[in-house]
Amino acid sequence: MQRVNIIGAGLAGLSAAITLAENKIQSNLISLQPSERAQSVLAEGGINGALNTMGEEDAPKYHKEDTMRAGAYLADEEAVRGLTDEAPQIIRDLERLGVAFNTQKEEILLRNFGGQKKKRTAYARSSTGKIIMTALIDEARKYEAQGLISRYPHHAFESLVLSDETTERACRGALIRDTYTTRMHFFEGSVILAIGGMNGVFPELTTGTTANSGDALAQIFAQGVRLGNLEMIQYHPTTICISGKRCLVTEAARGEGGRLFVMRAGKPWYFMEEKYPEFKNLMPRDVVSREIYFVRKDPSCGEQVYLDMTGLSGEVWRKRLPDLRAELIHYLSIDPQTTPVPVEPGIHYFMGGIDVDRKHQTNIAGLYAAGECCDQYHGANRLGGNSMLGAIYGGRVAARTVAERVEQAADVYDGNEKKIKYEKIPETDRDFREASQQVIYEIRDILAAAMGIVRNAQGLRKAEERLAQLLQRDGLNERERNRIYLAQAMVASAISRRESRGAHYREDYPERDETFSGIMQAEIKQGEDIPIQITCRKAQRAEETV
Ligand code: FUM
Repeated sequence: MQRVNIIGAGLAGLSAAITLAENKIQSNLISLQPSERAQSVLAEGGINGALNTMGEEDAPKYHKEDTMRAGAYLADEEAVRGLTDEAPQIIRDLERLGVAFNTQKEEILLRNFGGQKKKRTAYARSSTGKIIMTALIDEARKYEAQGLISRYPHHAFESLVLSDETTERACRGALIRDTYTTRMHFFEGSVILAIGGMNGVFPELTTGTTANSGDALAQIFAQGVRLGNLEMIQYHPTTICISGKRCLVTEAARGEGGRLFVMRAGKPWYFMEEKYPEFKNLMPRDVVSREIYFVRKDPSCGEQVYLDMTGLSGEVWRKRLPDLRAELIHYLSIDPQTTPVPVEPGIHYFMGGIDVDRKHQTNIAGLYAAGECCDQYHGANRLGGNSMLGAIYGGRVAARTVAERVEQAADVYDGNEKKIKYEKIPETDRDFREASQQVIYEIRDILAAAMGIVRNAQGLRKAEERLAQLLQRDGLNERERNRIYLAQAMVASAISRRESRGAHYREDYPERDETFSGIMQAEIKQGEDIPIQITCRKAQRAEETV
């Protein structure tokens, strides 16, 4: 039996590996960094699920409604139903694995998070990601001991190996480089990509780890994997800069009572509370970030926005946010218990990525994707607290899809270890050089100028022109060219969406337009005059060329 190859050992990858192991299917868990250093450990505020432990009469259907509304109705409703229906069980499963959620009288406590009408975010202080990852790593080790999971940290994904058939292309495996020995290996079999978001496309501008360089996504895009929703980039309203890196001030701070203000006429103006009396500081992130953008441009206001957490009780600081306070004191020398913290929006999450169906299959047979690298669940704007949920659930669904196939082939693990075949490296003419820092930063600057919180045709067209010029530059290596194609697809998606929806706000098209109520899919069609093609996949799945 061939092992399933999972690329990425964060939450989505671990979840897929554990689910496969529960189904007696062996997997290789292949990652550049070990799980302990995955992006998922940075997740802070919590994980959503309608557990209804706070007497608010919550139910999965309300979670689904909030998710769909926050995502401006771009997400697939059936997929979101699956996500939100399973969420309470996922949290209970994590609790069973030993995740130390904050509790009271042995019941999991839930906190408020943005865009949600009920308290439904389970949390472990403000280090929820680290604590969940610790439990899942332990669970994976159990299956490792049983021969069901083999871990390959310090192994870099280089490319997919695809069959040559022109009718239906299939994934035969992946080329993987051991970064310690530099030896290349061929891992044969189905592949689940759990490669995280495109943080490395925006170095210094994101809260995520730039070890998720974006190169893997750019590579598979160049190989014909369809991407989607690329214009939807989430700016988290409250980030700070630590040593040149954007870092998160968790939304939980506002969930626990933190208030945003800007100075106006010599007094603090709590603009979110005045403009949005129902949700106040807890509007969805796209709205809060945009409001911060606008008040900073308003000549009657100061340019700095502050997060005022001075009203939070000593108990909240001690029991719910001690790690946030310690971080702010340590890195900024600001004690948030007594002093408002200067904050600004920063890139935090990519709602777009690999285009998958409800079973997490891509457009290539035998290739699946889960977690932040795929475009399922979050539509035009992700709800805070749905990221870890989407990663765990997506990993489960992708693994279940693979398991169905394996069961049909009666091919489950019988307990006898078989030698992994990865010696016959397929012929390749790939150029394996890294992208240069100069090109990475040029692409970043072009994208950052055009694809900020507020966009317009002029800026996007300028970006399109600059990327086309960059592509003509002599001496580009393959990774650099792939990065440019990916950037072109992001810009082309943003140009095609001539409306404002969720995280995509166009000042030249400030209204929502139902013509665009679908995911923008991007594909490279080799040999065409315009190789990058954008198609709008309507919610009802009718294809329409934009
Ligand atoms: O603000 C936060 O704690 C982020 C949570 C999330 O992105 O889900």
